[in-house]
Amino acid sequence: MSEQMTYNDKVVRQFSIMTIVWGIVGMLVGVLIASQLAWPAMNFDTAWLSFGRLRPLHTNAVIFAFGGSALFACSYYVVQRTCHTALFAPKLASFTFWGWQAVILSAVITLPLGFTSSKEYAELEWPIDILIAIVWISYAIVFFGTIAQRKIKSIYVANWFFGAFIITIAMLHIVNSAALPVSFLKSYSAYAGVQDAMIQWWYGHNAVGFFLTAGFLGMMYYFLPKQAERPVYSYRLSVVHFWALCFTYIWAGPHHLHYTALPDWTQSLGMVLSLILLAPSWGGMINGMMTLSGAWDKLRTDPILKFLVVSVSFYGMSTFEGPMMAIKSDRSHVVL
Ligand code: HEM
Repeated sequence: MSEQMTYNDKVVRQFSIMTIVWGIVGMLVGVLIASQLAWPAMNFDTAWLSFGRLRPLHTNAVIFAFGGSALFACSYYVVQRTCHTALFAPKLASFTFWGWQAVILSAVITLPLGFTSSKEYAELEWPIDILIAIVWISYAIVFFGTIAQRKIKSIYVANWFFGAFIITIAMLHIVNSAALPVSFLKSYSAYAGVQDAMIQWWYGHNAVGFFLTAGFLGMMYYFLPKQAERPVYSYRLSVVHFWALCFTYIWAGPHHLHYTALPDWTQSLGMVLSLILLAPSWGGMINGMMTLSGAWDKLRTDPILKFLVVSVSFYGMSTFEGPMMAIKSDRSHVVL
């Protein structure tokens, strides 16, 4: 039996299919709310079709259902191949698939009905939050269990990024979702006032930093060299940019709270760390781009490489835009 046969690709396939399904659903909801911005009558005077209820459905669907399913699929695919071993605890891996779909279905039902914690990107109410925590801890057990039983001595850098993404999201979700339930679908945050805002944006910004960045960089570090048939440009740069990115991202949250009741020095610290974040972000972007050097000819014929180079370019552009938008004086015309 070839080694390929021993890998658990069923769960990878399931998550891949749902990535496409949720991508279509999430973006259709995006198109609807975009239409409502142009033609408000598109809410058909129906509460559950209103912008305020469907906007969080859009963001949850595209980030956690579409992006999340892609991350589960790719991390399960990559960790098996880079560790030369099948997934640890396959039944638990299957549970992460069905559990994650249950979370998404609950979002599809409760958000249009108007149940919300009102925390951006963490709108789901407490029973769903508990399910998310259970699924996420199961994901960590499957992923790190697979790493623990690896047949290869070193841990390939893609797995460092997936690992940081899994650990950090568990921490952010559990801390930010701490709440006092008052009924089955209503709760109040465990934090108050500006502390609540600070915890929320520590969570919110790092949902971008770890869910939408570290996890996707894990994909880049496996699929880009694989498709280009070249080794990663610099393994040393990948390790430096990994630690620099993880260290720096976690401080950037306060840039969402410029000119608020948050102490001024905290806002400035968030701004400075956001500016510094340009360096590790571009370190990763350059590492991806340079991996392609010597294989540029393949770009003419390989559509997968074309998509990869476009994503890495957009990553470079948005990680320039982000630090610029974090500059406090530049924000004043927006917020005041
Ligand atoms: C057909 C594609 C899409 C359409 C038409 C669309 C449309 C929209 C609209 C109308 C909003 C609300 C803007 C507002 O409140 O002023 C929005 C917000 C947002 N969308 Fe999409 N979207 C699409 C795809 C995506 C994808 C693929 C992602 C990420 C994977 C995404 C992530 C977000 C996020 C994070 C926000 C909140 C932005 C913020 O508050 O600054 N969208 N989108």
